Amino acid sequence: MAILYHEQTKIFTMHTKNSTYQMQVGAYGYLLHLYYGSKIEGQELTYLLQYNDRGFSSNPAEAYKDRTFSLDFLPQEYSVFGMGDYRESGLQLQNTDGSFDVQLTYKSHEIYQGKRRLEGLPASYGTEKEVESLVITLQDEVTKVEVDLLYSVFEELDTITRSVQVRNKGIGTITLEKVMSCCLDFMNRCDFDYMTFYGKHTLERQVERTPIRHGKMSVESVRGCSSHQQNPFVILCDQDANEMHGECYGFSFVYSGNFKATVEVDQIHQTRFVMGIHDTGFCFTLEPGEAFVAPEVMMVYSEQGLGALSRNYHTLIQEHICRGKFKKARRPVLINNWEGTYFDFTAEKLASIAKDASKLGIEMLVMDDGWFGVRNDDYSGLGDWFVNTNKLQGGLSKLVEEVNSYGMKFGIWFEPEMVNEDSDLYRTHPDWCLKTPTREGNRSRFQYVLDMSREEVRTYLYERITAILKEANIEYIKWDMNRHLTNVYSISLPANRQGEVYHRYVLGLYDLLERLTTENPHVLFEGCSGGGGRFDAGMLYYSPQIWTSDNTDPIDRLRIQYGTSFGYPISSMGSHVSAIPNHQTGRVTPLHTRGVVAMSGTFGYELDMNKMTEEEKEEIKEQVAMYKKYYNTINYGAYYRLTNPYSSERFVAWEFVSEDGKNVLVNFVLTKPEHNPPIINIKLQGLERNKRYRVAGTEEVYTGAALMNAGYHLKEQFGDYTAVQIALELYE
Ligand code: DGJ
Repeated sequence: MAILYHEQTKIFTMHTKNSTYQMQVGAYGYLLHLYYGSKIEGQELTYLLQYNDRGFSSNPAEAYKDRTFSLDFLPQEYSVFGMGDYRESGLQLQNTDGSFDVQLTYKSHEIYQGKRRLEGLPASYGTEKEVESLVITLQDEVTKVEVDLLYSVFEELDTITRSVQVRNKGIGTITLEKVMSCCLDFMNRCDFDYMTFYGKHTLERQVERTPIRHGKMSVESVRGCSSHQQNPFVILCDQDANEMHGECYGFSFVYSGNFKATVEVDQIHQTRFVMGIHDTGFCFTLEPGEAFVAPEVMMVYSEQGLGALSRNYHTLIQEHICRGKFKKARRPVLINNWEGTYFDFTAEKLASIAKDASKLGIEMLVMDDGWFGVRNDDYSGLGDWFVNTNKLQGGLSKLVEEVNSYGMKFGIWFEPEMVNEDSDLYRTHPDWCLKTPTREGNRSRFQYVLDMSREEVRTYLYERITAILKEANIEYIKWDMNRHLTNVYSISLPANRQGEVYHRYVLGLYDLLERLTTENPHVLFEGCSGGGGRFDAGMLYYSPQIWTSDNTDPIDRLRIQYGTSFGYPISSMGSHVSAIPNHQTGRVTPLHTRGVVAMSGTFGYELDMNKMTEEEKEEIKEQVAMYKKYYNTINYGAYYRLTNPYSSERFVAWEFVSEDGKNVLVNFVLTKPEHNPPIINIKLQGLERNKRYRVAGTEEVYTGAALMNAGYHLKEQFGDYTAVQIALELYE
């Protein structure tokens, strides 16, 4: 039993393999948080609560003369605005009479095996054996507002998920102004580092680590999607935590729209963490009987450092977020024509790229942007999802048949959520996009955003995408999104409901994706938003892989993929070899290095295969064979970050160990060549101490203990950005 309730003390305890979470229905029915951290069994942690009379901290009416009970400093399980807790709140709402008061006290609870779905939202899932759930219902006795706090425990993965449901059980309309999914208080503790993942287009998920301080620190997006600029995954950890040591708490938001993740240190050095949908631009009306469901936050605990935390997230997302055939089935090595041709292609050109690629073991051609409507640049065509037969003479099916005849699968690009002004769709339905009727909307990449909250918009997209899928044997869709939201206004909603549009947009997107993915189980979906601008656990529920970045430079990718690996599995990171000089940075790197970096992800190529020399093609053939050989080790083995690319100037290294422990793949990239260099020695991780490992293709044999404690010596490396891949095999 992962979840326990003690009737006399009214204490709820949740245990995972290595962690404990405890809360209590305290005085006057308030739900107080007691503890979240390393496993503690057989102990009530109520002794941690401190009751003091603190100045300027009010006391709830029921406490009357008891000046030591105040919501201003007691640890709350779900804090509300307006009743004397001045810290960052979880819930803020306006009652029918215009007041902001909400007083939530315990009403009931339910514990059950398994996990229920969150209506209309992506969320983790599991069988009755894998997960146990708890619902605690709080209520406001005056207004009859009810709040369900939803918890699910994946014991083996040290994971507890949280979300919230608000129900209006009163007789008047209420307005939700903020509904956060997770609110977590750490009593008597503020010695954390906050790790966040910031970036920009073509440089996503750069790692930033800062000690927290009094006051608030937030990362957020109000761009309508999770964004390149900040990621909805953050970590709170010991200030000396590293890959192998220290307490770490991860928070991954299963949502693809606006978000906010705030950490606050209060006046008596306690820490509060709050995560959920951003309250800016958010306002949701609930009529009597209506409910609002907030998306899920997946919390993972590790007391063995960041490496263990990440590996649990990798399994959690692979096993309990990703769905369908491609959760486990081997995904094809692909070639995408974008950087090879951009908009300038014909069916003949694509077929010849496919033909060349097929001889090298590549398994799928992806036709990127430019195949539909009138689309020879990014000024026109979006929305017109009809094949351009001037470019693809003979139609889509002829091209796909030819590609299939080379033994290659066929994939296709869409950007369904967008429309160009210069398109038939816009000319017919100018009112289908998000735009205030009284103004001209902002353009970005010369496109507008379709109002995904509207059924008729989604129906059009569903019908067009389905028709294209029926036209030919299409086995993959790249789902792109190339601008952020502005002028967020839907003509389908009344004035007082415009604060719902950001969220309804995301719900509409999920609804369309749900229909398309369930009706086309044989089609592999890859998420994309100008690279990794919508790289989150919400999108991974529909597409098990996401194009990690529009930056294909392997040296920049070292940091992008390193940062992404903290919260997301290797199998989720789309990663391709492209041409040199690199189109984004102009950097020149060896083909081998481009291959080594790209194969630490869902591997592919993004260049004009017709332009490669015979020698290069031979090398590509070897890369593809290598990737296929180590596919399971890379995608489903354990991943170890051996260096930190921000502090290791000379080289970057990372390692994979297969699930059965028999295969190990160590990757090095030299980032700064040096004459008369110090020895490169790297301590491996995750091996069996007393077993022996042989370096593949040599007679070199080492014990696991030697490789992990004395380290592996890399022979001297020269040259710009050289890479080495070392395969080790269990020897005895
Ligand atoms: C942005 C994507 O990230 C690229 O890979 C490519 O698909 C372009 N869009 C096409 O417009």
